Amino acid sequence: MTQDIVILAAGKGSRMKSAFSKVLHKIGGIPMVRRVLTTASALSDSKLHLIVGHQGEQVETSCQDFSANIVWQNDPQGTGDALKRVAPFLQTDGATLTLYGDVPLIRASTLEKMTALSTPNTLVLLTIRLTNPTGYGRIVRNEQGKVMAIVEQKDATDRQLAINEVNTGILLAPNSHLQTWLAALTNNNAQGEYYLTDVIAMAAQAGVDIVTVNPENEAEVAGVNDRVQLAALERELQHQQAIALMQNGATLLDPARIDVRGTLTTGNDVIIDVNCVFEGNVVLGSGVEIGPNCFLKNCVIGDNTVIKSNSMIDDSQVAEACDIGPFARLRPGTQLANKAKIGNFVETKKALIGEGSKVNHLSYIGDTEMGANVNVGAGTITCNYDGVNKFKTQIGDNVFVGSNTSLVAPVQVAEGATIAAGSTITKSVSENQLAFARARQTNKDNWPRPSKK
Ligand code: UD1
Ligand code: CA
Repeated sequence: MTQDIVILAAGKGSRMKSAFSKVLHKIGGIPMVRRVLTTASALSDSKLHLIVGHQGEQVETSCQDFSANIVWQNDPQGTGDALKRVAPFLQTDGATLTLYGDVPLIRASTLEKMTALSTPNTLVLLTIRLTNPTGYGRIVRNEQGKVMAIVEQKDATDRQLAINEVNTGILLAPNSHLQTWLAALTNNNAQGEYYLTDVIAMAAQAGVDIVTVNPENEAEVAGVNDRVQLAALERELQHQQAIALMQNGATLLDPARIDVRGTLTTGNDVIIDVNCVFEGNVVLGSGVEIGPNCFLKNCVIGDNTVIKSNSMIDDSQVAEACDIGPFARLRPGTQLANKAKIGNFVETKKALIGEGSKVNHLSYIGDTEMGANVNVGAGTITCNYDGVNKFKTQIGDNVFVGSNTSLVAPVQVAEGATIAAGSTITKSVSENQLAFARARQTNKDNWPRPSKK
């Protein structure tokens, strides 16, 4: 059955105390509303509607790529009002699933349990039992256990307040009925709002079956109203992700001290030490080891590569059995071939480092193509920038660059060449040549050292 999915994101979120829309605050590096849109997109045969209002332009801009139908709800008057605004855009048959931009961890598997029960004469509610139901709408059942209504906290009697089964807000209603019910909503209640939850009593009256589904865990239906709840859900998501990584064959030295802000894919026998942060899309091959305090963003790391502590890798590709760090910084456009070594206090940028080549200490290698088995001595700098333009350095296979060399680009050092330590290389060097570019040393015998008078 085709489905409309409505995501409510018009609310003010005043408790966030933020210049940004609440639903754009991130959980696991991804704006909450984008998480919900991604989950909704995973359901088959669905048409997305996004209700925006407060700070709506921001939400609209940040969610453009989902091509959801944007519906404006300026001056929001309740969850029922939100659905009334989208009503003209709903399909005539099928059903409408209502989700919330600030309930980010809802799972597709739970929503699929709901859609599996959907019929033109069934309303599916996602409910949960809470030890403390304060603030939530209560699920009112009759003696036979049939759902009869949802009563909001502010409208509930003392007896109803004792009910601990609550409305998560997520519901799936058949469109043919929903249109009638929405048209009949009133705002005659404690908050003067149009309550979407009033359709439950209408459904019961109309003899529509009301069935309930429970989420797998409480975090799926937890909403974010302030930054304390945002932080709590962030921890919950990080915990869930850590469990999934371990179940998939990665060793985490402390599952409470890893942060994945995006997607981390791992091969078998990956070992990750504490306090590592992964951002965007990161892929780690089998046998990869990562030391403590590393930051990896949008990169692919080949099998058996070892990344030692305090290294940063951004937008780079690393092949197999490489050795990186400690304290290495691979900036965007770095590509390491198999068995390359980048040591401590080395920065690379737009650099191809050939198989088995080593840049072990205190160097900057930028805009460079380096062949295989090159040895770059400590303190080597590619001088790639004249203040306006960037220039390239090319280094052939088996080159030996002595320590403290400046390679002033554009410059080429051909295969097998040797650069003497301390050289400033401004002219290209041919195959197998030795280049000296430093003042010659003079030694004077019996030099009378200056002395105080
Ligand atoms: C709602 C439910 C309540 C349920 C609870 C679960 C109603 C009347 N009540 O209450 O039964 O237990 O959620 O969290 O539905 N929003 C809009 N436009 C509006 C109003 C709200 O987009 O006009 C959005 C808000 O930004 C928020 C969400 O809908 O993300 C829920 O609205 P809120 O007013 O917080 O509902 P609750 O009072 O919590
Ligand atoms: Ca409210």
